[in-house]
Amino acid sequence: MVSVMRIWLHISFVVVLLVVGFESSEAYGYGGISHEIGKNIDRINKMGPYLGIVVPNSFELDPLLQSPSFVADEKFPFLDFSGRRFRFGELANEKVIVVMTGLSMLNAGIATELLLILFRVKGVVHYGIAGNANPNLQVGDVTVAQYWAHTGLWNWQRYGDGQNDELALESSGDYTRNIGYLRFSDYNNITDQNGKYVGNFLNNVWLQPEEIFPVNGTPEVRQHAFWVPVDKHYFTVAKKLKNLKLGSCVNTTCLPRTPVVVRVKRGISANVFVDNSAYRSFLNTKFNATSIDMESAAVALVCLQQKRPFIAIRSLSDLAGGGSALSNEANIFSSLAAQNAVDAVVRFITLLY
Ligand SMILES: *[C@@H]1O[C@H](CO)[C@@H](O)[C@H](O)[C@H]1NC(C)=O
Ligand SMILES: *[C@@H]1O[C@H](CO)[C@@H](O)[C@H](O)[C@H]1NC(C)=O
Ligand SMILES: *[C@@H]1O[C@H](CO)[C@@H](O)[C@H](O)[C@H]1NC(C)=O
Repeated sequence: MVSVMRIWLHISFVVVLLVVGFESSEAYGYGGISHEIGKNIDRINKMGPYLGIVVPNSFELDPLLQSPSFVADEKFPFLDFSGRRFRFGELANEKVIVVMTGLSMLNAGIATELLLILFRVKGVVHYGIAGNANPNLQVGDVTVAQYWAHTGLWNWQRYGDGQNDELALESSGDYTRNIGYLRFSDYNNITDQNGKYVGNFLNNVWLQPEEIFPVNGTPEVRQHAFWVPVDKHYFTVAKKLKNLKLGSCVNTTCLPRTPVVVRVKRGISANVFVDNSAYRSFLNTKFNATSIDMESAAVALVCLQQKRPFIAIRSLSDLAGGGSALSNEANIFSSLAAQNAVDAVVRFITLLY
């Protein structure tokens, strides 16, 4: 028994020595960051800081990669990590790291978080296409919203309860009735014998703010965030994009007027492709929302949490269900919209520095 104990102690001692030795000679080697990748990240960061460019999908990324304003780094054009490709180069003479997120909030959040924790990034410019809920704007216009919210976190109320009834777990601060709700019954097209709208079992969904854990806050102590402002300085600079000339035709199909860049009050994001007139109009009337997309608010929330300046430049590719009943406009105009967004990003970076 004693000898077994002694052998075990001896083994533990050797293991401790090995671990200590390993730690002092290798800064990396745990989790997903190999020694090789760690060295490359160090090398890249030494040449920073960079402006981070975050873009949802390849049809939005391609016009940037093909732009004459983008010059890929000759020696180190990209680093693949955790299913993402981080591209290095210069855009409008500014050092950038470009990352494609993939569709929707989770992907956008993960890719942005990786970008910000792995690399020396001084700010984030997010761009892409979006649905348009603002009747004063048209497809092809490029919008820069001052505030972004994630409108897909809901507390779905039980049938029978109404505005004056507390939500489940509301008293513990997990949920709130402060932001408001969507009442499905308001969209019924059925009336009773007296011509009054009747309710339905879907009742209300109450919109909720996100929980965030700021990088300089107390770990595990949540803060709430619904409207996330973009960076003040970036937003001021975006005002100068007003006179940027943008494309207005796809092949021989042209838009009714030349597109413009406009700063707007609000954009919203959720894991929902909105191609529905009633929901579009709810988002516009309730929130004064213009651009509707599936990523910007996720990028905004991560930048808020990491305390890094952020802006989103989103061109309008369709009317989010508010157009003709035949089809969604994105089928025709998404390529034009993506190009317009890239043109606005390039000019924005030129103006920023
Ligand atoms: C409501 O129902 C009537 C009759 O079924 C129909 O004509 C009308 O188009 C419907 N309205 C909407 C907004 O769906
Ligand atoms: C709604 O947003 C537009 C720009 O997007 C702005 O001009 C207008 O003042 C806003 N209205 C309200 C009530 O906030
Ligand atoms: C525009 O023309 C190109 C080349 O002929 C074609 O591949 C593309 O599908 C056209 N786009 C639209 C929206 O019609």
